[in-house]
Amino acid sequence: MPLRSLLFVPVLRERFVEKAATSGADAIILDLEDSIAAAEKAPARAAAPEVLQRVAAQHPQVFIRVNGLDTGLLEQDLHAAVAPGLAGISLPKANGPETVRQVDAYLTLLERVRGLPSGYVRLLLWIESAKGVMAVEQSLAASPRVLGACFGAEDYTADLGIVRSEGMEEVAWARTRMAVACHAAGVLALDTPAAEFRDLAKPRAEAAFARSIGYRGKHCIHPDQVAVCNDVFGLSDAEAAWANGVVAAYEAGERAGLGAVALDGAMVDRPVYLRALRLLGR
Ligand code: COA
Ligand code: MG
Repeated sequence: MPLRSLLFVPVLRERFVEKAATSGADAIILDLEDSIAAAEKAPARAAAPEVLQRVAAQHPQVFIRVNGLDTGLLEQDLHAAVAPGLAGISLPKANGPETVRQVDAYLTLLERVRGLPSGYVRLLLWIESAKGVMAVEQSLAASPRVLGACFGAEDYTADLGIVRSEGMEEVAWARTRMAVACHAAGVLALDTPAAEFRDLAKPRAEAAFARSIGYRGKHCIHPDQVAVCNDVFGLSDAEAAWANGVVAAYEAGERAGLGAVALDGAMVDRPVYLRALRLLGR
């Protein structure tokens, strides 16, 4: 299933919870972490099981973002989160493989206790610190539950004490490194959310660049960002036409004994053909 758009829903915002399933987002991330104030952590956790059941009854991909391992809240958050209907855990501050292995072990225990198949709960890892970026390959390999990684620009810049400008040049290396690591591991690269939700030009530009370096989707903080992400990360008519043209031209060339053919003034050879097939999801 695609994860073009992942909409954050603070678990205590009842109006948001009601609207989440009809937002058009490919995934809903019920948040217990950054959007929940310290004093509300316990009530948010207490509300999570019922909110999960309600949203999961209407949406196939509901994740819960728990608090990080070093907060002391993670264990209780997982205890509240793991239930039938949960697609996975969105794990913040995935700073290295030890963290991922620890969470994997907790999930194995909870699955057993709750009668869920082993490996039922998937993991999305937030790569959002210097350590997280440097250890990304090992973290992705640390559990077979890992479905993807999420680049967290806000926490990453906070960790480095740097400021991100409009074009995100300051975080470009880390963002690209994570995307390449995800492809090497065969998991999805998912982009940081954009803060802007009235003027959608910025989220659109961020999403388009993210896609151009290998990202498959982007987080959203507001429902108006969802259509933008679905559009940018989906296959456009022009891309489908190009890819179908390439496939037809290359396969005709192959039948004629040619490894490279011309199409609209450009060469098409095997890597171009493979890229077209991939774009078409074949
Ligand atoms: N999920 C579901 N619905 C949402 C939503 C969300 N994340 N954000 C807004 N909505 C709904 C509102 O309920 C409203 O619908 P309604 O008028 O039918 O009630 C509609 O979308 C428009 O909301 P709007 O008034 O434009 O937004 P706002 O000013 O109330 O809130 C934010 C703006 C950014 C504060 C809010 O979108 C938000 O809290 N987002 C999540 C933040 C988050 O999770 N951060 C942590 C991740 S980094
Ligand atoms: Mg954060």
